[in-house]
Amino acid sequence: METGTIPSSAPKTVATCTITVNGKSYTVPKGKTILEAVSALGYSIPTLCHLSEVASNASCGVCVVEVKGAKSLLRSCVTKVTEGMDIRLATPRVLAARRTNVELLLANHPKDCLSCLRNQNCELQSIASLLGIDNVRFAQTRKKPLPLDTTSVALVRDPNKCILCGRCVAVCSEVQGVNAIDVMGRGAKTQVATFFFKGLGNVACTNCGQCALVCPTGAIVEKDHTAEVWKALQDPKKVVVVETAPAIRVGLGEAMGMEWGSLVTGKMVAALRRLGFSKVFDTQFSADLTIMEEGHELIQRLSNGGKLPMITSCSPGWIKFIEHFYPNSLAHVSTCKSPQQMFGSIAKTYYAEKMGIDPRDMVVVSIMPCTAKKYEAKRPEMMGAFHYWQARLNLLEKDKFYDVDYALTTRELARMLKQASIKFDALEEEEFDDPLGQSTGAAVIFGATGGVMEAALRTAYEVVTKKHLQSVDFQAVRGLEGIKTAEVDLNGTKLKVAVAHTLKNARILLEQIEKGESPYTFIEIMTCPGGCLGGGGQPIPTTTEIRKKRAESIYREDARKGIRKSHENPAIQQLYKEFLKEPLSHVSHELLHTEYTERGVY
Ligand code: SF4
Ligand code: SF4
Ligand code: SF4
Ligand code: FES
Repeated sequence: METGTIPSSAPKTVATCTITVNGKSYTVPKGKTILEAVSALGYSIPTLCHLSEVASNASCGVCVVEVKGAKSLLRSCVTKVTEGMDIRLATPRVLAARRTNVELLLANHPKDCLSCLRNQNCELQSIASLLGIDNVRFAQTRKKPLPLDTTSVALVRDPNKCILCGRCVAVCSEVQGVNAIDVMGRGAKTQVATFFFKGLGNVACTNCGQCALVCPTGAIVEKDHTAEVWKALQDPKKVVVVETAPAIRVGLGEAMGMEWGSLVTGKMVAALRRLGFSKVFDTQFSADLTIMEEGHELIQRLSNGGKLPMITSCSPGWIKFIEHFYPNSLAHVSTCKSPQQMFGSIAKTYYAEKMGIDPRDMVVVSIMPCTAKKYEAKRPEMMGAFHYWQARLNLLEKDKFYDVDYALTTRELARMLKQASIKFDALEEEEFDDPLGQSTGAAVIFGATGGVMEAALRTAYEVVTKKHLQSVDFQAVRGLEGIKTAEVDLNGTKLKVAVAHTLKNARILLEQIEKGESPYTFIEIMTCPGGCLGGGGQPIPTTTEIRKKRAESIYREDARKGIRKSHENPAIQQLYKEFLKEPLSHVSHELLHTEYTERGVY
């Protein structure tokens, strides 16, 4: 295997300059902003609009500092250090200006903290508290509240809570390349909005939730479905089962006050049982199933001249993206449903039948790192189990049910655990239920960028070559590089593969395909930076450093699993023996495969 990455050459000498911070002299790298330079020295300047991954619009004025000789205070997030700069971080003038700037933001801001999803995890609230703001000296100028945008299945926008920091617009454009939202209007009428104010649900938004992940306030949040899940859990007629995506076990702990990237698989299972779920299952079971179906689909395309490169289909934000922006390339996308949806189909058919449960009485709840999963669960084609049972149980159209009833994010699950007074860190670890809780190391790594590719290669190699794979670790497809490439030898056939995360990187690979210049056979695309572990439903904050910690835990979990190849999962082997018969069988196609929809850009 070889990578497409060129190793960097000799180390470069870094140019430096000398600055003074609060009277103390330091040598710092040239070209850094004051904020970057002093942060590295152990100081912490408060910020509100700044986000290191994207360009700053420097709108909030919270990060101001005093620089000797400068007429006005300077915004440290955009001002570069220069030789001899004498910086004061917290003079009375600086503190007064920060306070005034935050008070101006608060003048029109609804004081809804107690009922706001971001309460106690809100940067505006924290900064107001840090600056000791106990009253706002400026009068409210907005006469009546602006309408909420509730058009999306996945997200809710509340423009009244927006402080116009521009982070969401920058992430949507610079990281995702989608541009579903922009800053519109002027002066007091300025707003972040969608094209012609149509609402997120009516434009080319992919529901990725990266805007919600970076929003410093409650102005963009996940659509909360916890009330519906509580109701189902309290209904004695319902059998409520839960599935948890790989990335939850490395994110949930953070939302419960633990270290970044804490691996909490066993505690998560125990907590879900305490919430009242009848069975605690694992989306990793269906991730293994996805590999069986997708791996065989790839082998079939290779042998019968099917459309190549084949592209993975697990990430629902990516699917909506290609449907909007590159509909001519949809034939490249694997027809496999995502693990979330495969789980729902199998739970309400195979498992329901095995356990004698009427599928209409079963409620499937998924816990996902992803806001786009809410949209995916409600796609009209995601009713495989209903169609399976329709003739068998004489079901009518009015009896229709989805394969997955509710998709909750990591953040929503954390809220439920807190509401249920569960002491998460004190819980003893517990195991998933059988059989839909059994999984392999290949399934765990679905949570990180490159993981689906690596899992597929582990299986494809052994299926095609009929040889034992000596090392299952495909290092070339791991890591946070935007696009990774590798070459694998499958019995003399060279397979060039590529892995991309973020939709902006997906565009690069799609442009190659549409120009007929793609050298690849198989491509993995994940919507969010870092893959699912950096999903839009994960705990806030989610930064590059935190993504790395979560990825380390994912690979640690993989390494400690006894079985690390999907085709060796005994519960999956049993499922094929008892129900599906073989990958790509007729039943598999009915339940586990899907089709896509061409959509316009607006
Ligand atoms: S966005 Fe922050 S400050 Fe505003 S209501 Fe919500 S928690 Fe309070
Ligand atoms: S959900 Fe994603 S695509 Fe939609 S507005 Fe937010 S960042 Fe853009
Ligand atoms: S919605 Fe949030 S991220 Fe976007 S501009 Fe408003 S406050 Fe900033
Ligand atoms: S953080 Fe610098 S202006 Fe907002």
